[in-house]
Amino acid sequence: MLSKKLVDAISDQIQFEYYSAFTYKAMQTYFEAEDLSGMANWMNTQFQEEMAHAEKMFQFVCETGGKVKLMAIEAPRNEYSSILEIFEETLKHEQEVTSRINNLMDLAQQEKNHAAQIFLQWFITEQIEEEANASHIIAKLKRVKEDGRGLMMIDQELAKRVFVPIVE
Ligand code: FEO
Repeated sequence: MLSKKLVDAISDQIQFEYYSAFTYKAMQTYFEAEDLSGMANWMNTQFQEEMAHAEKMFQFVCETGGKVKLMAIEAPRNEYSSILEIFEETLKHEQEVTSRINNLMDLAQQEKNHAAQIFLQWFITEQIEEEANASHIIAKLKRVKEDGRGLMMIDQELAKRVFVPIVE
């Protein structure tokens, strides 16, 4: 059973997960236009992951007897000027998600809601990977700078990413 405060806070995060999905889908359009299909694939996979995060939270609220409140999702940023800028923005975005998940965990702890804490633990772990993924790509991009061959190699590497459904 979740308190109204927790249902509202998780509903707010569901909205942010959908907004995250939109943000990455918008980033995908940049790469599609630049014919960087590997990076476009990486962003599309990120989009799918965010949708899965929203769904996981949605199901948790339903299973614990709460009623999710869906809210409007604002338009994402649609214009970027470089590959590096996009991945730096990705890292910044994920840091924001981490901070939001930590706040949710703080609330679950304050309310001594053990089920919510166990549930949120999955997202705490997931955020370590989310931030690390973006950081590794930024490091590689900084290493190759504008070198076309290096960028193509990164693009090929990011083409390999596949969406793995969340296993309960
Ligand atoms: Fe749902 Fe990228 O955090």
